[in-house]
Amino acid sequence: MAPESVGAAHETIAVLDFGSQYSQLIARRTRELGVHTQLVAHHRPDALALPNLKGIILSGGPASVYEPGAPQLPDAVLTAGVPVLGICYGMQLLARTLGGRVRPVASREYGPARVSVNDAEHALFANLPGGLDVWMSHGDVVEELPDGFRAIASSAHSPVSAMANENGIVALQFHPEVHHTPLGMDVLRNFVLGMCGCRGDWTAASIVAESVRRIRAQVGTGRVICGLSGGVDSAVTAALVGRAVGDRLTCILIDPGLMRAGEIAQVEATFARNLQFDLRTVDAAAEFLGALRGVVDPEKKRRAIGRLFIRVFEREAAKIEDADFLAQGTIYPDVIESGASGDGAAVIKSHHNVGALPDDLEFELVEPLRDLFKDEVRKVGAQLGLPDELVWRQPFPGPGLAVRIIGEVTVERLTTLRQADAILLDEIERAGLTRELAQFLAVLTDSRSVGVMGDSRTYGQLVAIRAVTTDDFMTADWARIPHDVLARISSRIVNEVAGVNRVVYDITSKPPGTIEWE
Ligand code: XMP
Repeated sequence: MAPESVGAAHETIAVLDFGSQYSQLIARRTRELGVHTQLVAHHRPDALALPNLKGIILSGGPASVYEPGAPQLPDAVLTAGVPVLGICYGMQLLARTLGGRVRPVASREYGPARVSVNDAEHALFANLPGGLDVWMSHGDVVEELPDGFRAIASSAHSPVSAMANENGIVALQFHPEVHHTPLGMDVLRNFVLGMCGCRGDWTAASIVAESVRRIRAQVGTGRVICGLSGGVDSAVTAALVGRAVGDRLTCILIDPGLMRAGEIAQVEATFARNLQFDLRTVDAAAEFLGALRGVVDPEKKRRAIGRLFIRVFEREAAKIEDADFLAQGTIYPDVIESGASGDGAAVIKSHHNVGALPDDLEFELVEPLRDLFKDEVRKVGAQLGLPDELVWRQPFPGPGLAVRIIGEVTVERLTTLRQADAILLDEIERAGLTRELAQFLAVLTDSRSVGVMGDSRTYGQLVAIRAVTTDDFMTADWARIPHDVLARISSRIVNEVAGVNRVVYDITSKPPGTIEWE
């Protein structure tokens, strides 16, 4: 059995999830304050029995408290003996359960609002001004306070914008976790560090030290294998495991021939410079191209690549004697999405599972990042001394350039796309936009169009450029890249990449578009 998560030793704030789109954000923001959080599904209150529980935050949620089947407040919340902060639905639920009254408002209040603090002495509002700009999103308000509670903030539409009793229960009608509540982090800090008395022991250095200790305890004198993808999660996993077990780690980097220009060499060089363990690169390009011959359907491409990844990995892993452990870069959102918290979202593309290894592999899993959000993984990477180009690497899909080539994947088409993509990367870098954009990529479409070059007519290929800004990749906006940068990208691609005579810029947000084209 895998050991307890790395967070278990730390002071923990539980975020009881009532289905709000912001639940994960509450957990992330609280961690930014240096306090470990754990998301707990509202129907799994038993999971609140955490060893070092210091407080509970009740999230918002889409339901109305009087609706049939609306989630209830588990008894465990009130018997845990720690401070409780209810947010939005969490507040209405506290009000109703403790004997107050909640009523629907005529029209849902959604957007910015201004609240006045009625009790500047309350610990929740320590060092804050008397008026706060906040973000509201609710259809119900607290009409009558439960016994023992008082309104500690009010707004024009919500006379009870915040309430508190003398026993450490507080609640907010507004959302402190979103950027639209500019002082929201201060409110959260007042709850977590002030009312709950957390010290803030969740730092990159403590995570590294704790992870290394746990990996050593789990692995003993055993040997570990780790699959590298070139992405930040697997790199940080390898670096952590490497720090723990040194040369008893062997990394396997499969080159499916579907990476961006120069990427495999770059990963090899980075690891050679920074880490001492054994890295084996497997050139499997011919096998992957063979498996993709004639395949045009995006889902079939993904499946073919996913299956082959597993086969090649198994074959290579079998060559490493005495390995009992497999290190994987599973991160906290993967754990949540696979059912630990929410109810699971619809599958839009099967892609997020590509590269995942089957359950029946005969290895014990080592998953040191299971408890970390992406921003924490990056901090741990930096703490371990990994270079920025790896720590801040943009996401790259498991099926690689195969899902950025519409239609069949061939060596020639891969070469065309790589050249166009390299020009894009170069120009974005020169313009100093790399860190501003969450992701940027070139797509080789299956369209052709007429053009003119010199005195001749051309009938060439169409390349699309995609660049997005996003915090979480679940939604994204197309990036407003300066026109002169776009102009340089376009003219260089048309001039330098044989066979391409037109470049278009994708101005679709997500939703309705996805980031990748396939
Ligand atoms: P979409 O295209 O669904 O992508 O908007 C969202 C993010 O996920 C990345 N992506 C993948 N990541 N394996 C991965 O690990 C995959 O198969 C995969 N496909 C897409 C995509 O690049 C974007 O960042």
